[in-house]
Amino acid sequence: MERTFVMIKPDGVQRGLVGEILSRFEKKGFKIVAAKFGVLPEAIVDKHYEEHLAKPFYPGMKAYITSGPVFRFVLEGDNVIATVRKMNGATNPTEAAPGTVRGDFALSIGKNVIHASDAPESAAREIGIHFTATELVAYVKIDETQLYE
Ligand code: GTP
Ligand code: MG
Repeated sequence: MERTFVMIKPDGVQRGLVGEILSRFEKKGFKIVAAKFGVLPEAIVDKHYEEHLAKPFYPGMKAYITSGPVFRFVLEGDNVIATVRKMNGATNPTEAAPGTVRGDFALSIGKNVIHASDAPESAAREIGIHFTATELVAYVKIDETQLYE
């Protein structure tokens, strides 16, 4: 079963959106297999955003992402990587469709509430950066027979 890494950023935590956002993914049917709350260490931020290190917006983004606690979690389910990206909406909230997390709760690209892995390779890489193997919990959830055919 596919897994993805999701992070509610400091603006989402400060605005009290953790429950609302997590609830959307739970109601969709995805299974939470790991979770963590706290301020990101600098080294983790640089690893996580490796592809953006040289971008002009990186220093500002790093300051923002370490400005307060984030809520990190791993979701499991069929097609979870692409589906969570769709549920989050476009990177720039001005382009994000209503009904998506960013479409409903965000106004600017620099404070866009949530992150999720964009491909199987980045999901594996990001899960490995943020969680150890023993922090990923394999278990059977009782609604699985009702979710999958
Ligand atoms: P994530 O799920 O957060 O990775 O977003 P994404 O995959 O939709 O976008 P991308 O990986 O290209 O960018 C990562 C994050 O960098 C975005 O979520 C934004 O918070 C931030 N970012 C990207 N482009 C810009 C920009 O032009 N300006 C600012 N201020 N931030 C940006
Ligand atoms: Mg990205």
